[in-house]
Amino acid sequence: MVEFENAHYRVDGTRLVGPLNLSVERGETVVLLGESGSGKTTTLRLINRLLDPTEGTVRVEGRSTDSWDPVLLRRHIGYVIQEIGLFPHLSVARNVGVVPYLLGWERERREDRVQELLGLVGLDPAEFADRKPHELSGGQRQRVGVARALAADPPILLCDEAFGAVDPVTRAELQSQFRSLTNRLDKTVVFVTHDVREALALADRIVVFESGTTGFVGTVDQFQADQSAAVTALRDLA
Ligand SMILES: Nc1ncnc2c1ncn2[C@@H]1O[C@H](COP(=O)(O)OP(=O)(O)O)[C@@H](O)[C@H]1O
Ligand SMILES: [Mg+2]
Repeated sequence: MVEFENAHYRVDGTRLVGPLNLSVERGETVVLLGESGSGKTTTLRLINRLLDPTEGTVRVEGRSTDSWDPVLLRRHIGYVIQEIGLFPHLSVARNVGVVPYLLGWERERREDRVQELLGLVGLDPAEFADRKPHELSGGQRQRVGVARALAADPPILLCDEAFGAVDPVTRAELQSQFRSLTNRLDKTVVFVTHDVREALALADRIVVFESGTTGFVGTVDQFQADQSAAVTALRDLA
């Protein structure tokens, strides 16, 4: 579904990421786990063409991203970032409906979809649809962000430290609901985090990032059993 083949991204000759070689299967949740500055966000941006690799290839559904129309590609890929992503002056319903609106869906279809999405992420539309983002808790805002990313039913979701701004209890709840929702909807997910516990809660496979490239790649069970120094050090943080 998403493949990196010897992909690099350089700025003025300085390597930010690469070499990247990784294949994300349909329906799988892959967590990119690493310290701040290890290249996770840059890697995510190579998938939805916010960046183009300066070397090598990134493919989405078998096609090199540079042969995708960037607008079509981004419609195909939901993107969830920390709460700064919501439009502060728009209601929850309008935030969630923004992509359907841009796609020209009729009002009724849009409203039906917004209701359905709010339900999916556990927000009662009667209570929340007309609120503004500042009238929500951090966890509720994150739910709105997830609902918005799912609006046009993209097969792929990219999440960048999506639950980073909420308290630990809310965070654990969001993680478990996110996992069951994306499994149920059969989404392919690439989720970036620096939090080992979050990676363990969400991942089918974990990819450890270090200095712009991938180290360990494996299932949660393999991660738990791995004896390398890097993985052992990460496990000690969990
Ligand atoms: N546009 C840019 N120009 C130069 N350096 C950048 C740019 N964007 C990110 N970097 C650097 O690239 C490295 C990887 O950044 P990033 O992908 O944001 O890491 P992460 O998401 O893991 O924290 C960092 O050292 C960062 O400072
Ligand atoms: Mg980042």
